[in-house]
Amino acid sequence: MKIGIIGGAGYVGLVSGACFSEFGNLVICVDKDQKKISSIKRGILPIYEPGLEELIKKNVKLKRLFFTKDVQQAVKNADAVFIAVGTPPSRRGDGHADLTYVYAAAEEIASHIDSYTVIVNKSTVPIGTARKVQQIIRKKNPKADFDIASNPEFLREGSAIEDFMRPDRVVIGVEKKSAENVLRKIYNPLYIIETPMVVTNLETAELIKYAANSFLSVKISFINEISALCEKVGADVNVVAKGIGMDKRIGGKFLKAGPGYGGSCFPKDTRAIIKIAQENDVALRIVEAAVEANLNQKLRMVEKIRKALGSEKGKTIAVLGVTFKPETDDMREAPALTILPFLIEGGAKLRIHDPQGMKNAKIFIPEDEVKVKYVANPYEAALGADAIVLMTEWNEYRSLNLDEIKNLMKGNAFIDLRNVYEVDEMKKNGFKYVSVGR
Ligand code: UDX
Repeated sequence: MKIGIIGGAGYVGLVSGACFSEFGNLVICVDKDQKKISSIKRGILPIYEPGLEELIKKNVKLKRLFFTKDVQQAVKNADAVFIAVGTPPSRRGDGHADLTYVYAAAEEIASHIDSYTVIVNKSTVPIGTARKVQQIIRKKNPKADFDIASNPEFLREGSAIEDFMRPDRVVIGVEKKSAENVLRKIYNPLYIIETPMVVTNLETAELIKYAANSFLSVKISFINEISALCEKVGADVNVVAKGIGMDKRIGGKFLKAGPGYGGSCFPKDTRAIIKIAQENDVALRIVEAAVEANLNQKLRMVEKIRKALGSEKGKTIAVLGVTFKPETDDMREAPALTILPFLIEGGAKLRIHDPQGMKNAKIFIPEDEVKVKYVANPYEAALGADAIVLMTEWNEYRSLNLDEIKNLMKGNAFIDLRNVYEVDEMKKNGFKYVSVGR
């Protein structure tokens, strides 16, 4: 099969392109960003995602994966063209997703369709967008032989390739059997490993994506609120999560208490579904509450750090991890971006380390002679620190040499916002240890 990917240098586009070519398809990734395209061609990726670089190199070498700026190359003779452009929150700040790039992609594809092609929306879009894309193409090129489909992605940053290659399910929204057949053929390698396919209409497929991300956000906010209660009543949230998660009806995943969810999807998608519901006169109070609880959790973490230090004024804080989760360099909606400015404002000095995220973090929290210093490793961060704040659970923070850390520090507060360490062990090591919900 020949597949075109619009937005092919973006996160979803790159991962999908690399994986579709690994399935044996011929894939042409197009992107407007010439700089990104040229650097990918030289083997330098614009994002950090484990395993992606190798996969791209391999398939480029096998001449199954190509990168270009030219939309026509991707659409010509294609069996399917995926739209995987960004849908950032709209500048109006009203929770809507900005669909400018999706519609622009539809316009561009339209004039190049030269044989039967399935136009597949992979970007997360409000319900009804696939039909809008269909109208745009139809209007621009009334003769085009095409069908429309919605095929939402469920990729987690940091394990995107595994998620793509071994998904829990593939969701396919279509109007016609012909479009379903093309998508089934593309995903055939997954069918062989018995991946369930949910084939449905366009609107249902679009809603599944929002409902899945909202439900997971609700799960996280639920356990985060329970963590606050645990702290008051002397319970351990890790064990509560384990105890409820063993009930198969609940399930143990996405029940890790922490500093609140971040990233490019949960915050944006929860706000978008709330907006969609409001416009349809439907109350989504549970999702609204999850969004509110997420902000509260981040603010609660600020208070936790303050309390452990007495006050942050004049104190040096070693921050371990700033990305919204490990194995990514993505800073979008990272809890650190809410928590750290309060500490800086309150007069703390920060020594920040992150294995991959420092370059992006500096854009939001710039280095500054007095207040903010980025350092090369966690030990350098600990040097002269009154407190350690473990913000992101990177593997390299899981087995720190605690004696060395303690010797390097001035104080002994260790605020573990990801519950990486054991309470007793940390106390034994002489730390004033604070975690979440324990
Ligand atoms: C998410 C979805 O999982 C994926 O299916 C979707 O399509 C894109 O959005 P991603 O944002 O990459 O993926 O990360 P995810 O692993 O889901 O974590 C999101 C946030 O929730 C992170 O900030 C993470 O730290 C937090 N989280 C996750 C928790 O606080 N507790 C948990 O138990 C799980």
